[in-house]
Amino acid sequence: MGFQRLSDLSLTGKRVLLRVDFNVPIEDGVVGDDTRITAALPTIRYLLSHGASVLLVSHLGRPKGAPDPQYSLRPVAAHLAELLGQPVPLADDVVGPSAQAVAQALKPGEVALLENVRFEPGEERNDPELAKRLASLADVFVNDAFGAAHRAHASTAGVARLLPSAAGFLMERELDALGRVLTHPEPPFVVIFGGAKISDKIGVIRQFLMRADTVLVGGGIANTLLKAKGLEVGRSLVENDRLDTAQELLRTAEAESVVVARSLDEPGSIRTLTVTELGPDDAIFDIGPETIAAYSNAIHGARTIVWNGPMGLFERPPFDAGTRAIAAAVAESGAFSVVGGGDSVAAIHESGFAEKIGHISTGGGASLEFLEGRILPGVAALGTED
Ligand code: 3PG
Repeated sequence: MGFQRLSDLSLTGKRVLLRVDFNVPIEDGVVGDDTRITAALPTIRYLLSHGASVLLVSHLGRPKGAPDPQYSLRPVAAHLAELLGQPVPLADDVVGPSAQAVAQALKPGEVALLENVRFEPGEERNDPELAKRLASLADVFVNDAFGAAHRAHASTAGVARLLPSAAGFLMERELDALGRVLTHPEPPFVVIFGGAKISDKIGVIRQFLMRADTVLVGGGIANTLLKAKGLEVGRSLVENDRLDTAQELLRTAEAESVVVARSLDEPGSIRTLTVTELGPDDAIFDIGPETIAAYSNAIHGARTIVWNGPMGLFERPPFDAGTRAIAAAVAESGAFSVVGGGDSVAAIHESGFAEKIGHISTGGGASLEFLEGRILPGVAALGTED
């Protein structure tokens, strides 16, 4: 299915409602990792330089359909104003009097931000009335929120059907890169999955077991597979209600070594073991050196790589070593690589490897659903009839 692009829109003198995914970490009122904000700048700048004004709409966190100051977009407005070098007023509401006044006041070349769209109870149930009120604030709709494209919400799917609509540059870039690895990956194709839960990734792992040459796993996902294989995993994080599925996914799990500890508070208990050596008091917190070597070897031979999710407890050194080593191997492989998911992306950025990655996705759940082969409602709503 095709979708409209920015170049299909007439923009001069138009007010554009631009859906972005500014769901970024905020600590003590300050934006942390701003990747998702900087990723939307090319679209914002294009719209402004083509004579439009830009009214931004985003969610932040998961407030329960009512205003909640801890989820205000105020820190994001301040951060964006700095990045753009121009004021970014924030409306106090989403579609109320403040939003209407802010929208009316916008002149070509100006930008403003609506308050967190999830303060509206109609957002997550894709309420047609809310979609209508959002549409009434602008002439044109552009969706650059790839990270939220798997949600059929009023500000993603609903409003797109009410205004001339198009995908922004970030949305296009994400769909091109993820589409390339989904539909015609150059072999050898290696996919790497980590993270805490196998349940989040079952669909996508299944998809790639059929298509990839090698599937490498780490994190809690690997623990669940090891237990399903009948191995002792002690106190490791495991999804016990997914052992049947894990069994089904297992073909030849060949994990070799793991880094274990009795508890995170006992650094003296950290050891490297082979996967058959764990005792009932041990818990796996990272992949070990032999696994790193085997995985790196597979990664170095790849022409296409997809990586999503950390290999261990990345936020607690020394259990970040496996994830960092995989980041280095992916960066040095020379393969076309697509990396998604918070910790894997952080490992790439912190290690200074971002330049060597084919595409760093701003979508967590959205990229996984896309790679599962699902149609994303936010993208479908931008579709043309062909
Ligand atoms: C994300 O962080 O993956 C997106 O912003 C979507 O957020 P959600 O899972 O709360 O819908």
